[in-house]
Amino acid sequence: MSKTPPYPLPDPGWPSADEALMSRLFAPVRIGAFTAHSSTWVPAMVPWRSTEDGDATPEVVDWYGRFADGRPGVLVVEATGIRDVPSGPLLRIGHDRFVPGLRRLTDEVRARSGGQTRVLIQLIDFLRIRRRPDKAVFLARFLQLEARHREAVGLGAEADDEAIRAALAALPHEDLLTTLSDREREDLEYGARERVWDTHLEHIAELPRTLPGLFADAAARAVEAGFDGVELHFAHAYTMASFLSARNVREDGYGGDLEGRARLPLEVLAAVRDRVGPHVTVGCRMLGDEVIEGGTSVDEAAWFAKRFAEAGMDFISISKGGKFEDAKQPRVGAAAYPYTGESGHECMPTVRIGAPGPFGRNLPLSATVRRAVREVSEAVPVIGCGGLGTFREAEAALTDGACDVVAAARQSLADPDWWRKMQLGRGDDVRRCIYTNYCEGLDQKHKEVTCQLWDRPAPEEDRPPPHSGSLRSSDQKRHLLAPRWDS
Ligand SMILES: Cc1cc2nc3c(=O)[nH]c(=O)nc-3n(C[C@H](O)[C@H](O)[C@H](O)COP(=O)(O)O)c2cc1C
Ligand code: SF4
Repeated sequence: MSKTPPYPLPDPGWPSADEALMSRLFAPVRIGAFTAHSSTWVPAMVPWRSTEDGDATPEVVDWYGRFADGRPGVLVVEATGIRDVPSGPLLRIGHDRFVPGLRRLTDEVRARSGGQTRVLIQLIDFLRIRRRPDKAVFLARFLQLEARHREAVGLGAEADDEAIRAALAALPHEDLLTTLSDREREDLEYGARERVWDTHLEHIAELPRTLPGLFADAAARAVEAGFDGVELHFAHAYTMASFLSARNVREDGYGGDLEGRARLPLEVLAAVRDRVGPHVTVGCRMLGDEVIEGGTSVDEAAWFAKRFAEAGMDFISISKGGKFEDAKQPRVGAAAYPYTGESGHECMPTVRIGAPGPFGRNLPLSATVRRAVREVSEAVPVIGCGGLGTFREAEAALTDGACDVVAAARQSLADPDWWRKMQLGRGDDVRRCIYTNYCEGLDQKHKEVTCQLWDRPAPEEDRPPPHSGSLRSSDQKRHLLAPRWDS
């Protein structure tokens, strides 16, 4: 394969300081209860740096402090779990004990951005997903035996469960697969994964009763920890996005048609607003397109966004794809990762993606959603994201009406100072993201996320930024923070 990316990086069109001053990108924007000093945004990115108990470590605080150095208008803290249940080294906000750690984080962002950057936290709920099981273990322990399994192996009523399991294990693999139901096949080949329409499970049936309170409690803790607001995670592969999904076939009024699918997200919004009041910004991240067969399209997304705006959502951030439904089969012992199939590639497009390439690829979605939102409100900004890493594209996205705020995840990871460099007319100093997803590969392996452009500096380039935690990854091989930039 050719080493030259099919889509070379576009002309950045870096502005002079005067051009930046007059630009839309660096103009203030009202976002619910606050005004951001510029229309720039760093969206949520999980860095894999919290403790196994979900607490903010000094390394988490350093990670957000480093983004704050670049003074984006808004910085969104990674997807943070609203339940008080173990979930590995992912941030959590499901109990009051998490508040002091998160307070250190918001203090750091304020200090490092000179009080300019507004900081939100993304609140997430997710359902259980198991690792892909070993076939022998699946057949011996996980498979719930039913009459059809007994019939398939031709054993009579006298055969005990152990004999049936042994007979299933002895079948050629293809025959075994035809014996299993679709769901059992998926449990075996990908790992069992709960769906929001598994209403035979009590905790899933009860989600409409439990989730509004969990989101509201988490939002109240976020306010206590000093956040300017919350971003409800209604996107990608997680619980709330699954309620919105066109695949949601719940029959209890929380699925099926558009009204049914929007019902729980609207109830969550109402519960959160009720708890935090009107002076805290409450917005959401949602999908402009699920990019899966039978999934939600942009027209449905626009309909949801309009309903959210009417119901008091303060901003709507548009993402794309990132679903389990088309994820690659994991190896035995690993869990499916929702960014490995086509929907995942659309979520974080690389230079190897098909036409029209990754740059600004998802703006048509935010443009459609924004047009719909404008029918009901002038005051709800729509955040556009996806392959935005130049001034030229960012400014055009705003002036063309594709979005009201420009979000850049990987470009901000490649160079957290890039916003400030542009603003100061120092665009030529920007370290540009090359959109090949080394960072996403680390996320997939649950390793501390870093950027290939700076994580192994030569000794003479080694200029550590301010930090209170470790500068090196746990395997000591990589730097955890982008080098200092002296403006
Ligand atoms: C390492 C990594 C972690 C991410 N974590 C999250 C997350 O926690 N929540 C979320 O909504 N999106 C997450 N994303 C997606 C980004 O916010 C963004 O939507 C995506 O990278 C496309 O934008 P970009 O082209 O500017 O990078 C993550 C992306 C990366 C690269
Ligand atoms: S690792 Fe690659 S894709 Fe990720 S931020 Fe760095 S340059 Fe961009």
